[in-house]
Amino acid sequence: MALLFSRLQRNILKDPGRLPADLTTLKFGQSFAPHMLVCDWSRSKGWSDPQITPLQKFQIHPASSCFHYGVECFEGLKAFRGPKGEVRLFRPDKNVERLKTSMARLELPFDFEGKELERLMSALVAVDREFVPRGDGYSLYIRPTVIGTHEALGVSPSDSCKLFVISSPVGPYYPTGFKPVSLLAEKTAVRAWPGGTGAYKLGANYAIALGPQTEAQRKGFSQVLWLFGPDDQVTEAGTMNLVVVFGDAKSGEVKEIVTPPLSDGMILPGVTRDSALELCRQWYGSGKVSERRCTMKEVLNASKEGQLLEAFGLGTAAVISPVQRINYEGKDIHVPLLVDGKMGPVAKRVWEAITSIQYGRTPSPWSVVCE
Ligand code: COI
Repeated sequence: MALLFSRLQRNILKDPGRLPADLTTLKFGQSFAPHMLVCDWSRSKGWSDPQITPLQKFQIHPASSCFHYGVECFEGLKAFRGPKGEVRLFRPDKNVERLKTSMARLELPFDFEGKELERLMSALVAVDREFVPRGDGYSLYIRPTVIGTHEALGVSPSDSCKLFVISSPVGPYYPTGFKPVSLLAEKTAVRAWPGGTGAYKLGANYAIALGPQTEAQRKGFSQVLWLFGPDDQVTEAGTMNLVVVFGDAKSGEVKEIVTPPLSDGMILPGVTRDSALELCRQWYGSGKVSERRCTMKEVLNASKEGQLLEAFGLGTAAVISPVQRINYEGKDIHVPLLVDGKMGPVAKRVWEAITSIQYGRTPSPWSVVCE
């Protein structure tokens, strides 16, 4: 059986509760909307009828492949309240497309119609629409996930899996305004390598980052700057894509906006990354926007010559995370924060444009109203 929206079954709570009166108590990913979407797949039967049910625990066999061989992938996207109270998803097609590529990498059944999953996610958000908080910076973070449920200890492709979607009302990533982050450039551990799984959203990529991340925090840094290769290419910052802007730090003139390329297979094709690149190409011209390798030596030299203008992370959770300091081989590289000491002008422009589309203030095909 195919994965089909038309087969959706609903078991909806009569009294689903409500958001807390004080939204500032919402902590990222710690409270959950009351319903979930679940659909099981097996090699013999295909996809079961998708179900929207109350959020509940699963009973899963302890031999399941998700527990032993890391057969798990996920997505993260957000629903926002528009000016008329409508609920909007930001580029959900991109997340579904990427989920399918992650599933393919894990030998899971990825050949379903993406539109069907989009409609199912939309239906779930519509059921829990009262849990999409109102207000700038607030949203419902949606977490589609697929786990291997193959009940055998032999290492083989999963004969069964479970697709589920849960969601979590969240507040602004920076509740008291932007807090520029400091990065510790990591010379020993690597997050990803060519031909590895860095380009897929697998839980395993995040699990292996926890040790170096904890160590960086112990040393007083917010995030790891992930490097690769003998020439210390910059790849990602924490769980975010990275952008470095070169230009004239005195006049603020932007010369080149650089982010590592997808072609090496080490970089997650982020939806915020893609959106920011498209906007920057419109604003600055495509000649100034480069998807290319960039080494620490280049960043260091640019800093010495007054040519390092900005660095920032891009991701769904925070949208933009301005970088103020990179510690490389024991020395600090300071990144200017030209707008109010909080971020650079490119970061600010990207932040304003993307959030304005997300909240439906600027009309755009990227913002999809939930039916
Ligand atoms: C994001 O920045 O959106 C992420 O991927 C972080 C998420 C794993 C919590």
